[in-house]
Formats: sequence, C-alpha cells, structure tokens
Amino acid sequence: RPMKVFVTRRIPQEGIRVLSNAGAFEVSVWESDEPVPRAELLKGVAGVDGMLCLLTDRIDTEVLNAAGAELKVISTMSVGFDHLAIEEIKKRGIRVGYTPDVLTDATAELTVALLLATARRLLEGVQEVKSGGWSSWKPLWMCGYGLNGSTVGIIGLGRIGMAIARRLKPFGVNKLLYTGRAPKPQAVEVEGEYVILDKLLSESDFVVVACSLTPETQGLCDKAFFAKMKRTAVFVNTSRGALVNQEDLYEALSSGQIAAAGLDVTTPEPLPTDHPLLTLKNCVVLPHIGSATYSTRGTMAELAATNLLAGLTGKAMPSELAL
Ligand code: GLV
Ligand code: GLV
Repeated sequence: RPMKVFVTRRIPQEGIRVLSNAGAFEVSVWESDEPVPRAELLKGVAGVDGMLCLLTDRIDTEVLNAAGAELKVISTMSVGFDHLAIEEIKKRGIRVGYTPDVLTDATAELTVALLLATARRLLEGVQEVKSGGWSSWKPLWMCGYGLNGSTVGIIGLGRIGMAIARRLKPFGVNKLLYTGRAPKPQAVEVEGEYVILDKLLSESDFVVVACSLTPETQGLCDKAFFAKMKRTAVFVNTSRGALVNQEDLYEALSSGQIAAAGLDVTTPEPLPTDHPLLTLKNCVVLPHIGSATYSTRGTMAELAATNLLAGLTGKAMPSELAL
C-alpha cells in the first residue's frame, strides 16, 4: 500500500512541491490557515505513516494512539519541539524531524527589531503621533534606552542566541554576558562572558531570553528573576511564553521593577485581547513572528517535507532530532 501522510495545515508551496514530487505517497492536508481542531487531528492521523505538524499541534499520547502502529515519522515545521511528547515518541521508536538553522537569521533579526522597538518606545511613539499626543519636540519626552555602551545578557547562547549576539555587538555593546547549562566555546567570537544567572540579571541593561523550553527552564522568569534586574533594564523573550510567569512580569512592569518588556511569545497564544499585559505602555507584544519572512517560511516548509520523506524512506534526515 502507498504510505500515508497527514499535513496538519496549509503550508508554503515549497513544502507541498517536495511532497507531491515524491510520488508514491498518499498526502492529505488540513487545508486551512487556522489550526486543525483536535477531533480532526485525531481523525487525520489515523493509520498514517508520517505527519507534518506545527508548533500549535500538541502531539501527545492521545494523538500517537490515534495514529496507531504505522506511525514512523513526525516532522515539525519549527525549531522548538516542546509541543511533542518526546519520551513517549522515543519509546515508540518514532523518528522526529525539525527545522533548526534555517530560521536562525530571521529570528535573530526579529529579536533585534523587538529589542529596539521596546527600548526606544516605537509603538508608543506611533500611537502618540496618531492620537495627537505629539505636541512638540520636547527634551524629556519619549526617552528610552540605547544599546551603545550597554551590557547585554543572553540566556541561552545556542544557534539563535549567538546570531542575536553577533547582530547586537556592532551597536556598540560594551559587555556581553551569557548563561546556560555550560560555557560555549563559540562565545569567544562575540567576546561573551559566561556568568551565573544572578550576575547576568543584576548587571545587564538588556536581558534576552533565547533558550529552549524544557522542564528546567519553564517559569524561569519569575518574581525573583525580575527582582534581580535593574530598574532601567529591558526584558526580551522570543523563545517560548512558558519561560515567563506573566503575572510576575505584569507586576514587575507596572511597579517599575523593570523598565520594559518585548515579547514575541506568550501564554496562551493568542494572548486574549483583554490581557493585563496589553494595557501596559511599556510592554510590546508581537504574535509569534520570529521566523516570519516569506523566504524563511518557505525554506522551513521545504525542510520539514524533506525530513518527512527521508524518514519514511529510511534515509538520513537533513535535520533529525537526536532522541
Ligand atoms: C518557532 O517558534 C519555532 O519553534 O520554529
Ligand atoms: C534555539 O533553538 C537555538 O538554536 O538557540
């Protein structure tokens, strides 16, 4: 019988092209721009050999059971894999493909854009222009914080963290601190100094979260975390929302414990429009668009499809997650 594949969303043409050129596969696609409803996901994966999913699909035991014993490959069109029940997947001998590297530059660019937009109050400024709040050029009005001469602290100096560091350094950053599980040899390239988290928080003017979401990092940015930051510091998160305790962040922002926050990721996603964080002028929230350039999304889809087919035909995937 031909192998069956379920794709959980409409994806860029680059990915579809790879799948349709493969020939002997029966490909079914959830043809929508919105996430597949849970019930349809459970139906769609029944009896498949492989699935191409997104970070919005929670692939847990229920989904694996619904798929059945034929499931050999899960390919996610994302670098993050916290939405996959990795232990259960490993137990079943299922291979996992993901899309690191190809989104590193786009995500680092977005992080820099968000950092500058937050520190220099760009959205607030645009709002003032539109609402008539701009009465004159004023010496003390709309001031923020600059990168020149600053100390930047990066939590997680992996692929994306390094790409952020490389881009920030030329802005005149004086000192680059980083923390993580262990010192990274590649840090020499950006003159990064490995420090413990407490030191990073107390010395940094910009704290950038670029680590992956794991049981160890979940809720890392909490009350104690923000209390250690400078009152003039800017917090930026482009990784996963669950790294942050949002009630604690709200408190830190509204009490002046920290200066501002830029978030590309939240809990939940989408963030409800009446969420307290959205009432704050010093909080910039973006709708999880780190990798959202036309070219990067196309490349991600192509890589996810290529990973899937390679896995199904018993070949080495270009990007396979080591389980
Ligand atoms: C985006 O958040 C990704 O994991 O690719
Ligand atoms: C995260 O995926 C990273 O590569 O830093």
